[in-house]
Amino acid sequence: MARQILKYPHPFLCEKAYPVEEITPDLKDLVAKMAEIMYDSEGVGLAAPQIGQCSRVVVIDLSGPEKREALQVFINPEIVRADGVEVKDEGCLSVPFGYRADVKRAQTVTVRAQDLEGNEFEVEAEGLFARCLQHEIDHLNGKLFIDHISRLKRSLFDGRIKKSRRLKKDAD
Ligand code: NI
Repeated sequence: MARQILKYPHPFLCEKAYPVEEITPDLKDLVAKMAEIMYDSEGVGLAAPQIGQCSRVVVIDLSGPEKREALQVFINPEIVRADGVEVKDEGCLSVPFGYRADVKRAQTVTVRAQDLEGNEFEVEAEGLFARCLQHEIDHLNGKLFIDHISRLKRSLFDGRIKKSRRLKKDAD
């Protein structure tokens, strides 16, 4: 696979992605690639910045890599309504060590986006779907789930990153 998933602390992951202006064949190729990479990595969601494309594109398939039957594409997604609060643990393909932590999110969200034909649509989501949408839209705004955890947890995590980079450097 030519495109790899970028990992924290890659600087690209903290960039704000640009809106998609036009549905082009390149965009369709990008979406197809994103879906493939997401399935290969056994994820349920992926945002374009995670593979180094700075555009507001998200793919989600909650049926998982085994079934692959519910692919949803969100171009320029926006949260237009958010209600309630729910704390659950999350991980991310761009966060090393398979690290997971509790993240506070809205319980339900309404998201407005465009599909691959350029048609605008809205979805109301709850549970894992709502959490996944919020997580992926965060990626488009240069945010990772570890930006939501406590300072203590974050500094422990960053310590682990530093240590593993040091070990890698020593090995080189
Ligand atoms: Ni993620």
